[in-house]
Amino acid sequence: MTPKTIVITGASDGIGAGAARQLHDIGHRVVIVGRSPEKTEAVAAALGVPFHIADFADLSQVRTLVQDLLDAYPRIDVLANNAGGTFTQRTTVDGHDLTMQVNHFAPFLLTTQLLDRLIESDAAVIQTSSVAHRAWGDIDVEDLDNQRKWSAQKSYGDAKLANVLFTKELDRRYRNQGISAAAFHPGAIATNFASEGSGPFRFAYHSIFSKLFEGVDAGASRLTWLADGEPGVTWEHGGYYAKNALAKTNPQVDDAELAQKLWERSETLVGV
Ligand SMILES: NC(=O)c1ccc[n+]([C@@H]2O[C@H](COP(=O)([O-])OP(=O)(O)OC[C@H]3O[C@@H](n4cnc5c(N)ncnc54)[C@H](OP(=O)(O)O)[C@@H]3O)[C@@H](O)[C@H]2O)c1
Repeated sequence: MTPKTIVITGASDGIGAGAARQLHDIGHRVVIVGRSPEKTEAVAAALGVPFHIADFADLSQVRTLVQDLLDAYPRIDVLANNAGGTFTQRTTVDGHDLTMQVNHFAPFLLTTQLLDRLIESDAAVIQTSSVAHRAWGDIDVEDLDNQRKWSAQKSYGDAKLANVLFTKELDRRYRNQGISAAAFHPGAIATNFASEGSGPFRFAYHSIFSKLFEGVDAGASRLTWLADGEPGVTWEHGGYYAKNALAKTNPQVDDAELAQKLWERSETLVGV
């Protein structure tokens, strides 16, 4: 096995931390990215791997993270955009809905600013999306922050739909330059998910109902399968996966013009 350098965001907890452990055990060079300095350092120290801190609620911290990663890693074979979740309604310092920013704008900025390094590395870029993109996603590119009518479900559904549309557009634009892209639903996994959210998500994940969910290792194994796999061989370019198989998507995912508009609007809104 050829070890890959695998950068995982949201690796201080839950699915990201679980995948970091699994990929490290296989023999890959894992790089932990987290928000909480204490939690992130603890996960990295247990594995003896490097770590970086950035709060995606502040895009200036994402820009600093980009520079730190460029300085530290001459190759990035896999970028796993996994940090995310559902949050209460809040406007970030950058003027965006917090849920949309953490799940979409921040990883969009991170990926596009790392593109030259990712292209040089023939990298795979993996988005942790959710089946919620099908249930609640209904994107209006002119109102990505859902300022007209916000709900926790719509905000999260749109953000996770943006992950799949971003995956499609990344594949369309950069596959012929060596980039591979995929998105996936990890399953309903008992993690810290929605601990800063409200309403049905918080209730489901932080009540007796969470006992119905799968454990962290199962959710992590789906990220591990993509990150450890061979794009174009073990998984399809631009695919959306659930349980390691291609899965049904929201009808908006087939709208190539929407994917392109989302990319262009996101560039404008994050200032690149
Ligand atoms: N659990 C599920 O059933 C489920 C289902 C579908 C999709 N997902 C997706 O899976 C991914 C991982 O979630 P999880 O279930 O493992 O939840 P989790 O245990 O809450 O982990 C979320 C990770 O994202 C990080 N994060 C949260 N806010 C952040 C911010 N402002 N800036 C940077 N990092 C931030 C967290 O950092 P801290 O440690 O500092 O909180 C943590 O590392 C998310 O994208 C989530 O939407 C989860």
